[in-house]
Amino acid sequence: MAKNTESHQEETRVFKPSKEIAREAEVKSFAEYKKLHAKSLKNPEKFWAREASNLVWSKKWKKVLNWKLPYAEWFVGGQLNASENCLDRHLDGPRRNKAAIIWEGEPGDKMTLTYQQLHREVCVFANILKRNGVKKGDRVLIYMPLIPEAVIAMLGCARIGAVHTVVFGGFSSDSIKDRLADSGAKIVVTADAGYRRGQIVTIKQNVDHALAGSTEVKRVIVAKRTDIEVNIQEDRDVWWHQEAQYVSADCPAVPVDSEHPLFILYTSGSTGKPKGILHTTGGYMVGTAATSRYIFDFKENDIYWCTADVGWITGHSYLVYGPLANGTTCMLYEGAPNWPEPDRFWKIIAEQRVTILYTAPTAIRAFMKWGDDWPKKHDLSSLRLLGSVGEPINPEAWMWYHKMIGAGRCPIMDTWWQTETGAILISPLPGATPLKPGTATLPFFGVDAAIVDDKGKELPHGESGKLVIRKPWPSMLRTIYGDKARYIKTYWSEVKGCYFTGDGARRDKDGYFWIVGRIDDVLNVAGHRLGTAEVESAIVGHDSAAEAAVVGRPDEIKGQGVVAFVVLKEGHAASKELAEKIRSHVAKAIGPIAKPDEIRFAEALPKTRSGKIMRRLLKQIAAGVQITGDTTTLEDLSVLTRLSKNGE
Ligand code: WTA
Repeated sequence: MAKNTESHQEETRVFKPSKEIAREAEVKSFAEYKKLHAKSLKNPEKFWAREASNLVWSKKWKKVLNWKLPYAEWFVGGQLNASENCLDRHLDGPRRNKAAIIWEGEPGDKMTLTYQQLHREVCVFANILKRNGVKKGDRVLIYMPLIPEAVIAMLGCARIGAVHTVVFGGFSSDSIKDRLADSGAKIVVTADAGYRRGQIVTIKQNVDHALAGSTEVKRVIVAKRTDIEVNIQEDRDVWWHQEAQYVSADCPAVPVDSEHPLFILYTSGSTGKPKGILHTTGGYMVGTAATSRYIFDFKENDIYWCTADVGWITGHSYLVYGPLANGTTCMLYEGAPNWPEPDRFWKIIAEQRVTILYTAPTAIRAFMKWGDDWPKKHDLSSLRLLGSVGEPINPEAWMWYHKMIGAGRCPIMDTWWQTETGAILISPLPGATPLKPGTATLPFFGVDAAIVDDKGKELPHGESGKLVIRKPWPSMLRTIYGDKARYIKTYWSEVKGCYFTGDGARRDKDGYFWIVGRIDDVLNVAGHRLGTAEVESAIVGHDSAAEAAVVGRPDEIKGQGVVAFVVLKEGHAASKELAEKIRSHVAKAIGPIAKPDEIRFAEALPKTRSGKIMRRLLKQIAAGVQITGDTTTLEDLSVLTRLSKNGE
């Protein structure tokens, strides 16, 4: 990457941890963090082994790490069970009757499950899985709204060593179909429907469409959420609540090898096909349990709310495995933040006395837009810690979050990580790290993060380059399911000997990491990753489109918006109606989050002489800025002039 020539205004506001928080926190000062971090880098295995001993193991590991680049094995020879670590071990003491999940549905219905109750439900569900033929190692696809059953289904799989692959409930039938084919799952767990913005989302119907003509999927287990009628296919579909009558609530957790797969989660990359990120049991549990404890600083009476859906990695690591492994009470809310009014979050916080809120910058920016009156209507004084994840948080949104939601009292943990990293890798610690709005600050213990140039040389502070991780960490992905070659190429070929994150970043004079954004062709729309190629291939799947190029452009709320340049086939004429049809087509193919904000019809796309689309130019056109930089490799210069005029 070229040396950064843009001028970055240095952020000068610094927020030091308060004495009260520092006194109670796991790490109590910046000096202590620095010392521990330096020590952990000298011997990461020692640090992680100590963290691992906080979990329950059926068999202790023989070796902390086997590292043969790019393949890591952690806690080799050890055996454990993720659901036992999230549930059973809390049952012997006072946590038995503590709330594990406080759930609220969008229409306002509520349910609380104590650790004991959650344990029982998970055992019942694990037995339902067994009754329906699921064995250790089998893949189970979960496609559900955000109801307690989604968490129960995940933990139920983990309990018997089955591998879950959760597909976000907002994704389309086609997305389910692709993930079924790639993962080889033969069983689907779903619900009749869910609620979103007052509407019924026809979850089961999407599954039916995805399964039309399939002979691979033998069983669909359906949780009942609403009263709507759904199609139940006699020989294939069963109701969860009916199956529950046939099984016992006794299901011992099956100890699995530390490296036994826990889940596959699909995420976007720079080609059209989503990648099945594979995480295994031991390392993932150690990583998520340790980071949640240090970063969210859990106390026994916390009510912790991570607003992510279980369909994303944040939902896996910081709504399910990390907090439950720590015996924390987790808030779960099914619906939209602005339903029925834009103060739903603040109402929930006030009613439930939530103490920790972990949400995304896109939500914070939307709240800012809706106005200060909404949060001001509610008593948010229970909050003591805030978190942010998914994309860089702009300093303005950070300040608003700090002042309006945290009343200047709550530190903000801006956590950088990825589906692939499994757990948070760069983040402040609440009692230790002085905060600056807009930066995820410094690496977690045992994490060796660096900014390097194209050749892998570490860059001096102030210069932008590629963000890499130089040492393995326990919760790292193990491979891309079924595609080793892509695993090696995507993560381990860009910079020799290092894990390449795909992000560009720089460090300031204090060594803090500022994430600039993705270097590859991945967009970050409302905190959700979308591959440009994925959207492009959906567009050319429409009859009228010959060619498409998709780029991001800055968007006030979503961080990035999606702009698609489309070249039509002969015989099709550009029109508003056609643009609308293509947008709906993308929503159907991937899901509403991928719907382009704008379609620009073009006669041709700017290409290099070797036929590569020049995205850099398209980005500038989409953002409406003057085209700068080298255009000498462009094959047909007139394309540019025509593109710029188009759509104005
Ligand atoms: C971006 C989400 C800046 C980044 C956990 C990363 C962030 C991608 C932050 C991963 C943050 C996530 N500051 N950028 N605090 N958190 N990102 O896989 O570009 O959905 O590579 O995981 O989101 O997105 P993913």
